[in-house]
Amino acid sequence: MNEIIEKIRAEFSQAVQSVKSPADLEPIRVKFLGRKGLVSTSFERISELPKEQRPLFGKALNELKKELETQYEALAASFKNKEAPKRRIDLTLPGRKPFAGRKHPLLKVADEIKQIFTSLGFTIEDGPEIETDFYNFEALNIPKTHPARDMQDTLYITDDILLRTHTSPVQIRVMQRQKPPIQMIAPGRVYRRDTPDASHSPFFHQVEGLVVDEGITFADLKGVIQAFAHRMFGPDIKVRFRPSFFPFTEPSAEYDFSCVFCKGKGCRVCKNTGWMEISGAGMVHPNVFKAAGVDAEKYTGYAFGMGIDRIAMIKYAIDDIRIFFENDIRFLNQF
Ligand code: PHE
Repeated sequence: MNEIIEKIRAEFSQAVQSVKSPADLEPIRVKFLGRKGLVSTSFERISELPKEQRPLFGKALNELKKELETQYEALAASFKNKEAPKRRIDLTLPGRKPFAGRKHPLLKVADEIKQIFTSLGFTIEDGPEIETDFYNFEALNIPKTHPARDMQDTLYITDDILLRTHTSPVQIRVMQRQKPPIQMIAPGRVYRRDTPDASHSPFFHQVEGLVVDEGITFADLKGVIQAFAHRMFGPDIKVRFRPSFFPFTEPSAEYDFSCVFCKGKGCRVCKNTGWMEISGAGMVHPNVFKAAGVDAEKYTGYAFGMGIDRIAMIKYAIDDIRIFFENDIRFLNQF
């Protein structure tokens, strides 16, 4: 009776070896493990045996059945695992694009500003964000006791070292290292002790402008600002200068652009004034020339500031400066 078992086992392992695809599996299951398969029908032959051999044979057959079932399951499972990568690939589908970052809207606007000014003959200069009291205040005609310091409080690292409150210190650095003619802009980040709200952030971005040469006048300043406004926002934008005060320019002005949304008629964005404040400007104060080592008898010059964040808010109709710094991907993806 052992021969019967050995024979089935041998036949099974041969059959298993010839399996090439999942389609070959089912006939094997039927032949060996099916209801009328070799194992089942062998049970029927128990009665042919002498009584004392019957339990032994039955036990051996049951073990064989289990053995073949296990092997069969394992084989079937191995096909299932191999099947997955065989899924059809549709070569006509477009490829998957790897995720690529993009420029922050403020950087894009800064690039545009730089492009406009370089096309007008300006160079691009740089200065440190961690400044000394001298460059940020003293050399800009803002002595220790000057009330103008009140509006530009900042983080002091020591009594003398601070986070710059504007890009104006770059004026001094450039005048110290370069003789006129100077025609530069300096974009960068600045810091102030401000509580964040829709129009304030403890850090923001400015572009400084400085032009120094013989015979530079306020008319040159107005012409350049006007040219910039037209290139940035279109030819129908008007520019307005209002008298103002900065310790480092004399005379000083603040300048506005006519509202790009209502074209000056008055709307919610410009608070019905028809104008949008951009920043300050003026003729370089003789004390500033003196501090930077420029001959104030020979040269004149103008300087202006510009808020990059503010220009970006106008360009993209954004009403809250804080959204630039939240890094919300749903916002950033729009640019
Ligand atoms: N630095 C000034 C500010 O931050 C702006 C300014 C720049 C004014 C240059 C005049 C000339 O408010």
